Amino acid sequence: MRKNIVAGNWKMNQNFAEAEDLIAEIADKLDKKKLNCEVIICPPSLYLEMASDYGDESILSIAAQNVSSFNNGAYTGEISASMLNAMEIEYCIVGHSERRKYFGEKDEILAEKVDRLLDNNMKPIFCIGEQLTDRENTNHFEVVKNQLSKGLFHLNNNEFLNVVVAYEPVWAIGTGMVATPQQAQEMHSFIRGLIAEKYDTQTANETTILYGGSCNAKNASILFANKDVDGGLIGGASLNADDFVKIVTAS
Ligand code: PGA
Repeated sequence: MRKNIVAGNWKMNQNFAEAEDLIAEIADKLDKKKLNCEVIICPPSLYLEMASDYGDESILSIAAQNVSSFNNGAYTGEISASMLNAMEIEYCIVGHSERRKYFGEKDEILAEKVDRLLDNNMKPIFCIGEQLTDRENTNHFEVVKNQLSKGLFHLNNNEFLNVVVAYEPVWAIGTGMVATPQQAQEMHSFIRGLIAEKYDTQTANETTILYGGSCNAKNASILFANKDVDGGLIGGASLNADDFVKIVTAS
């Protein structure tokens, strides 16, 4: 059966001391016996080593927020999947709308990043989602289908089973304009249908599909109650230990 996941994407926030306090507080507040989901922390890359120490001893898994599309070599400023894997980082976010928008990452590059991660035994958390204008023009299904197929559908069945998909409508990210539970369920079920069409029903049923975009301690349980919503990718609300733990508990 597929697993539920709640992942906290810290983005470019927190100095080192704050980051250490936050992860320690989260680890402390979570009770392993009561968890229904895997909990992933995605800190800035500078803090991955510190965070992975908590990952070792506690109930947290760790994800990087970005990875190079290259293997290794003269690529100043980049971090490779093999470096992350050597640090025992298990997951990495790929295709976040902020990377697509501010760093011009296109589908082809994102597909290469996915390949680098899988080559190095890591699991991509692959983000897809439409802009507000896409939804207003009822083009949102097409946009999501394109992102999914261009970023992931070159994978074979076994490779695809290592991918977590995150549906993040861009208009909901950091805006407080959360998708309704109906909108989330409708898109998640559409995504699962596309996976079933491309691979098979079993693969689709085993794929974890997260919702992201203004998910918080108040709305998490109603979003997660949908049958095709398997947890969340949480931005702003993951920077507060109490709120994040409430979201984890809602899954
Ligand atoms: P948000 O961000 O929860 O702050 O809307 C979600 C994300 O970008 O993953």
